[in-house]
Amino acid sequence: MNTEPKPIYGDGNPETHPLTWRLSKQEHVRNADDYEALEGYAGFKKAITMPPKDVLEVIKAATVKGRGGAGFPAGIKWSLMAPNDGGPRYLICNADEMEPGTFKDRLLMEKLPHQLIEGMLIAAYTLEATQGYIFIRGEYIEAAQYLNEALEQVRAKGYLGDNILDTGWNFELYVHTGAGRYICGEETALINSLEGRRANPRTKPPFPQVAGAWGRPTIVNNVETYNNLPAIMLRGPEWYIGLSAGKSKDPGTKIYGASGKVKFPGLWELPFGTTAREVIEDHAGGMRDGLKLKAWLPGGASTDFLAAEHIDLPMDAESIMKAGSRLGTCLLMVVDETQCMVSATRNLEEFFARESCGWCTPCRDGLPWAVKALKALENGEGKKEDIDHLQELTRKLWIGKTFCAHAPGAMEPLMGALKHFRSEFEAKVVNAAAQNRDVAQA
Ligand SMILES: Cc1cc2nc3c(=O)[nH]c(=O)nc-3n(C[C@H](O)[C@H](O)[C@H](O)COP(=O)(O)O)c2cc1C
Ligand code: SF4
Repeated sequence: MNTEPKPIYGDGNPETHPLTWRLSKQEHVRNADDYEALEGYAGFKKAITMPPKDVLEVIKAATVKGRGGAGFPAGIKWSLMAPNDGGPRYLICNADEMEPGTFKDRLLMEKLPHQLIEGMLIAAYTLEATQGYIFIRGEYIEAAQYLNEALEQVRAKGYLGDNILDTGWNFELYVHTGAGRYICGEETALINSLEGRRANPRTKPPFPQVAGAWGRPTIVNNVETYNNLPAIMLRGPEWYIGLSAGKSKDPGTKIYGASGKVKFPGLWELPFGTTAREVIEDHAGGMRDGLKLKAWLPGGASTDFLAAEHIDLPMDAESIMKAGSRLGTCLLMVVDETQCMVSATRNLEEFFARESCGWCTPCRDGLPWAVKALKALENGEGKKEDIDHLQELTRKLWIGKTFCAHAPGAMEPLMGALKHFRSEFEAKVVNAAAQNRDVAQA
């Protein structure tokens, strides 16, 4: 285990750490000239020498997966965008990042704002987009400021506006700050919010690729997804796929992270397929103060708890799914042996209940019921039926029963906790029975 924090960029090699290597040269790269001196905008300049359909083939060949949590391949999503009819076409960056325990997009935007802009320029050119928006959560004040400054710099260089670098293509990009609600991260709720409406998710289909912002074709991708594109354009899809060769079928590197009672909470760019043990022990320095790992969430609050015995799993979509969880954002949250799983789960469910948009009944009413049952157990007032009730909620709020993925996501940590740590829930009932007996005897 390391005794000092490790840098996010590893050895700072662009061949192995394409997302973060520049941070080994400068603490942050917010100036366009500095960024250009470090291979910046070279991927974009290469892309615009090619027909958009050829750039799309490069991104498809790289099989780059979305980094917002669902892992959908970007190239496939892009190829489903409605054909250009000469009207507006929108490109959106999802920078809402309100998933508890997830803070990777913030670092990318605060330290490398031009890399996101370059990635979006590549996407916008490929998709023949006319306007773009970086939808960023309102609390990310510094990131929004640095992005706005970076946009001014590239506007002056002619990378935004009309007839960009004599290509005949016009594109504008804006930063739009949200009001800081978790549901604004769901792509269709985000679009409603961007349009000035209440942030409820929309029915799908139609998917945003066909009818998104203002009813026009729209692509939404995550901050980290766009950050992958400049290096893919520069070094090619084979190199990108090779980054995780022998470790995982998921291509490229990923910003992994760890939070909770580890020695060095943080972020590290590592190839897909890095094991949870490597992240926790080799990068986060292991558990703090001699504590022992009990449970962990692989990628944010909306993923299923796994147990300490799963620590040698490669952190990729297939391996984590086989173990009964979801890769999510790849930022691990650890729970140590002194922490109560009922309380940890209650804490997460309170967040989800508060953040429900209230549009559909199972989520609006079911999540507060989950909190109520968990609180009863936590306070030693729970009954065995509360556990049955919680288990039932995991079925009633599951995929297909609610309007969007918020409620099923909320059920994931609960399902994992009940699956691996049911005895802790049951112990709370036993304690309640003993307490009632004591009260009766007194
Ligand atoms: C409740 C909820 C919250 C979400 N929050 C985010 C978020 O903060 N950032 C994000 O990129 N995706 C979030 N997503 C996923 C988006 O709907 C969408 O799948 C993603 O932005 C697509 O980008 P990607 O393909 O690059 O991953 C959320 C989904 C749900 C259901
Ligand atoms: S599942 Fe929850 S967040 Fe999603 S639409 Fe229904 S009430 Fe809103």
